[in-house]
Amino acid sequence: MESFDGLREKVLELKREKNALVLAHYYVPLEVQDVADAVCDSFAMAQKAAKAENGLIVICGVRFMGESAKILSPDKTVLLPSPDAGCPMADMVTPEDVLRLRAEHPKAKVMCYVNSSAAVKAVSDVCCTSSSALRIAKGLECDEIIFVPDKHLGSYVAERVPEKKFWLHDGFCPTHHRITEADVLRAKGAHPDAVFAVHPECGEDVVKHGDLVGSTAEILDFARRTPAGEILIGTESEIVERLRRELPEKRIYGVGSSFVCPNMKKVTLQALYECLRDEKYKVELPEDELRAARESLDKMVNS
Ligand code: 13P
Ligand code: SF4
Repeated sequence: MESFDGLREKVLELKREKNALVLAHYYVPLEVQDVADAVCDSFAMAQKAAKAENGLIVICGVRFMGESAKILSPDKTVLLPSPDAGCPMADMVTPEDVLRLRAEHPKAKVMCYVNSSAAVKAVSDVCCTSSSALRIAKGLECDEIIFVPDKHLGSYVAERVPEKKFWLHDGFCPTHHRITEADVLRAKGAHPDAVFAVHPECGEDVVKHGDLVGSTAEILDFARRTPAGEILIGTESEIVERLRRELPEKRIYGVGSSFVCPNMKKVTLQALYECLRDEKYKVELPEDELRAARESLDKMVNS
């Protein structure tokens, strides 16, 4: 069995040798984040993949992130270290659901959270991430929006864009959905001076207590900039670990017990090493799907 340091060195060496661009999401294990060329929220990951000059891109994240990178850089080889790392929320909506909603609301445009399959993106009008959803919804030329799949992000946006009518799909993230208002009130009671930063994939009852509601990158940025010495975090537990390491002078608390995305944890250093060594697992998508999905993703990246 390879030692941790040995594995890390091999990953760094393979990255150099193959001129690979390794992009990691903030929820993958810290040891994977530490060897990446950039650690990103979903929006920055898509932007970096679109601009990449390297012929080989490795996405340390869940499947929809790898698909988005391939859609935005179709001529590049895009690899996923753990192809079985899916996103349950992305699986909650199908292209047929979108087509049915379109038939029911023919005047509406379809806005699709990037946490969705390429096939769903292909039948949508525009994609968004949590950091770009408000801006994109406001700018969309229409009076009605069908929002898929996340009902929590959808209702957060709908409340702040009252000039438009929203039709929400009923998907959700099982990890963020587990955080309850009781968890937040308990944590606030235990740490009354703490500020609270929360991801909009949490339910309305949780999000309404946020001093900052934002994407993973926005939560980290807020924690770095706030003068507060105590910060409550309402998102996946790797963010809590990252902040504790980065800001030892501040007290960082997760809300409730540990909230883990099990799929993101499948992206281990060993999996990344094997991925770079064997150039597996390649993201491949049908040509017509890729082209159609690209239109929706391009609009997001260029918004
Ligand atoms: P971010 O865009 O905030 O990184 O969110 C991605 C995600 O999957 C959150 O659960
Ligand atoms: Fe999907 Fe939730 Fe995991 Fe994000 S945290 S990848 S939305 S399951």
